[in-house]
Amino acid sequence: MAGNDAIVVKNLKKSYGKNNVLKGINLTVKRGTMLALLGPNGAGKTTTVRIMSTLLGFDDGTVTIEGHDVGTSSDDVRSVIGLTGQSAAVDEILTGRENLEMMGRLYRLTRQSAKARAQELLEQFDLTEASNRSVKTYSGGMRRRLDLAVSLIATPPIIFLDEPTTGLDPRSRIAMWDIINQLKADGKTILLTTQYLEEADQLADNIVVIDGGKVIAEGTAKSLKSKVGKDRLELTFAKMSQLEAAKKLLGKSVIDSSDQDKTLTVVIVDTNKDVASALTALSNAAVPIESMAIHKPTLDDVFLSLTGKAKKSSNGDEKTAKKGKK
Ligand SMILES: Nc1ncnc2c1ncn2[C@@H]1O[C@H](COP(=O)(O)OP(=O)(O)OP(=O)(O)O)[C@@H](O)[C@H]1O
Ligand SMILES: [Mg+2]
Repeated sequence: MAGNDAIVVKNLKKSYGKNNVLKGINLTVKRGTMLALLGPNGAGKTTTVRIMSTLLGFDDGTVTIEGHDVGTSSDDVRSVIGLTGQSAAVDEILTGRENLEMMGRLYRLTRQSAKARAQELLEQFDLTEASNRSVKTYSGGMRRRLDLAVSLIATPPIIFLDEPTTGLDPRSRIAMWDIINQLKADGKTILLTTQYLEEADQLADNIVVIDGGKVIAEGTAKSLKSKVGKDRLELTFAKMSQLEAAKKLLGKSVIDSSDQDKTLTVVIVDTNKDVASALTALSNAAVPIESMAIHKPTLDDVFLSLTGKAKKSSNGDEKTAKKGKK
C-alpha cells in the first residue's frame, strides 16, 4: 500500500514516433479525493488516463495504483479501477440493461448478481425507463450515464473519467456532476479529465493543468486563481465623454479600456479601499456610471494565462477568450 496515495505517477513519458506526447508527468491523488486533469485538446489527458488504466504502454517513469505497478501488475491494477473512456465503450445494438449484464459477466459475477447489479445501477443512473431499449436510441446524456454505470459494475475504489461531460447540455452536465459528487461522497478516488474549467472548479479537490505533455501548474482551484491576479472592477458608461473623464480620474489603476463597450477595467488591490475610492472620485467629479461589476479571477483566466491561448488583452478577459474547444 502506498500510504494515503491511491495514484502515484512519476516522470511518465510516452512518445508516438517522434511525437513526444508525455514529457515527464508527475502527479499524486490521495485516496478518497478527486483530481481534475485539465488541459486543451491534444495536451495528453487521454494518453495519461489510458496508461494509468493499463490500456497503453509507456516509455519511461512509473505509475502506481493502490500500490500496484501498472507496468508489472496490470491485472492487480485492473481489479481496483473503473474507466469511463472518452468515446463510448458500450454496444449500440444491445440494450442498456444487456450492456450492464454483459459487463457484469465479464467481471465474473454470477448471472444472478450481474442482473441484480445491473438493476441497481440502472436505478442509480436514472435509466430504468430506457433500460430495455437498444443503446442506439439513447441521447448523448443517457449514453454518458450508461458509460459511467458500466465502469462501476465491479464497484472499483478508483475511477477514471475521461471528459465525462463533454457534449452534454447544461442540465445533463449538472446531473452528471451530481452523480460524480455522489461517487466521491461514497469514498471513491476519482481522476477526471476535462477541458471545462468550471467543471474542475466545481468538482475537484485538486487540479493538475497539463499542456504539451507537461504539468504546467497544480493546486486547488483557489490557489491557482490567486496566482493569476487580482480582482477587477468593471465600470460601464453611457457616453464616451464620461469614459474619457473616468479614465483621467482613475489614472494608473486603469488596466483596460474598451471604447466599443464604453467599459473601463480597474485593478483592485485592496477590496476594502479601492472600490470605494474609485466610486467616490467619480461621484465627486459628477461622472455618472451606467453599471459596475466586480470580477474575481476565474479558472478560465488561469488556464488562458498558463497556456498562453488568451487573446492579447491586459485583463485576460474570459468572456471573449473562452477555452479553445474543438
Ligand atoms: N495512437 C496515436 N498515434 C499517434 N499519436 C497519437 C495517438 N494517440 C494520441 N496521439 C497524439 O498524442 C497527443 C495527445 O493526445 P491525447 O489524446 O492524449 O490528448 P487529450 O489531452 O486527451 O486531447 P482531447 O482534449 O482532444 O481529448 C496528440 O498530439 C495526439 O495527436
Ligand atoms: Mg482526450
